Amino acid sequence: MRTSLILLAIAFASISGAGAKPLTYQLPEETATLRPAPDMETAQNNCAACHSFDYIETQPPKRGREFWEGEVNKMIHSYHAPISETDAKAIADYLSRAY
Ligand code: HEC
Repeated sequence: MRTSLILLAIAFASISGAGAKPLTYQLPEETATLRPAPDMETAQNNCAACHSFDYIETQPPKRGREFWEGEVNKMIHSYHAPISETDAKAIADYLSRAY
């Protein structure tokens, strides 16, 4: 695992060497929409950066606030989503209300 990561880093370094153009790409259009409820916009603004709302939509229903708080915290702590504490609370409230 570690060796392959190093090899990957070396491969990337050589690809992104002199003359490389800046990477531009178009995100695919969002296919899922969030359910309307208070604080939906906060989730919209914070949860679309890395993956589709499908990830939210496909969770089993009625899992409760603790589950959603755990999900939001996982996004922040494991995947480094830049979400403020206030927004994280609002999103966990919204998700446990709407899903
Ligand atoms: C910084 C990037 C990033 C942001 C921003 C982000 N996520 Fe994720 N999310 C991930 C990654 C990475 C995975 C795991 C993908 C995989 O395993 O296929 C994931 C997976 C999920 C899953 C699937 C279940 C799981 O735990 O793997 C859910 C639900 C989810 N995210 C919800 C959210 C919500 C809600 C937000 C907004 C608070 C959010 N995500 C914002 C990166 C992010």
